[in-house]
Amino acid sequence: MFAPFSLSAVLPALRAGEMLLMACGASKDQGGAERLAAVIRPEALPMNGLPVGTMLGTENGPLLKVEGRAFWPGWERAVFLARAVSDIPEGTYALNAERVGCALAVITLSDKGFAGLREDESGPALLDRTRGELLLCHERRFLLPDEPARLRALVLELAGQGYDLVISTGGTGLSPRDLTPEALIPVLDRRLPGFEQAMMAASLQKTPRAVLSRALAGTVGQTLLFALPGSRRAALENLDAVLEALPHALEKLGGDMSDCGRA
Ligand code: MTE
Repeated sequence: MFAPFSLSAVLPALRAGEMLLMACGASKDQGGAERLAAVIRPEALPMNGLPVGTMLGTENGPLLKVEGRAFWPGWERAVFLARAVSDIPEGTYALNAERVGCALAVITLSDKGFAGLREDESGPALLDRTRGELLLCHERRFLLPDEPARLRALVLELAGQGYDLVISTGGTGLSPRDLTPEALIPVLDRRLPGFEQAMMAASLQKTPRAVLSRALAGTVGQTLLFALPGSRRAALENLDAVLEALPHALEKLGGDMSDCGRA
């Protein structure tokens, strides 16, 4: 869960849509501060940093949205990539950091899609369906070939950036390059067999071929991960089987300690 807080930042002039690299903490190389466009006071930053989807703004409205974070050689803490959501005059700002809703990444695994030989219908459909169910503070789509190492690296990166929910589509079947489970099982902290069983049960109601799917659910740190089959229809049927439980799962994963009701 993200508790709102304030921080001070020195910002250059920006137009809406422009990206800004923000650093917090001092550079070991003292000259380094000039190379980064904005500096925020180090002590203001919470332990878990600024996850993607965090809005930074004043009482007059939002100014920046965090869209990524990374480590920069010589800096003690993460640097952030933020996008201006309105025009920003140069100055020193007291910013409020707030995060409402979830950050979602949808990854389509398809050699043909990646090569431009097939349109990705599943990724946009999954995004749409999830948007209808969850309030999103940030969303991004990725298209990858069926290469386990790339998928694994991307998922770990997204979890590190603070994505709450990552949904992949494709590569759960039996053909030689269907290796999504092999790529992802090693990075899961916890499997979620209830979700997996719900997806299989619902899928078997639709087609006996569902037995071929090795759809997965699990967690990577505080990120909830689903690996769904590749066709648009199969991906949506699997997602529909778990959609209703997603908000509660995300609350719990985010640290909600309240008692669960009987609903
Ligand atoms: N699940 C549902 N709900 N609906 C489907 O149409 N297709 C199956 C299965 N699961 C299907 C489904 C088929 S035919 C295959 S081959 C596997 O998902 C694996 O799909 P993938 O290799 O595209 O991930």
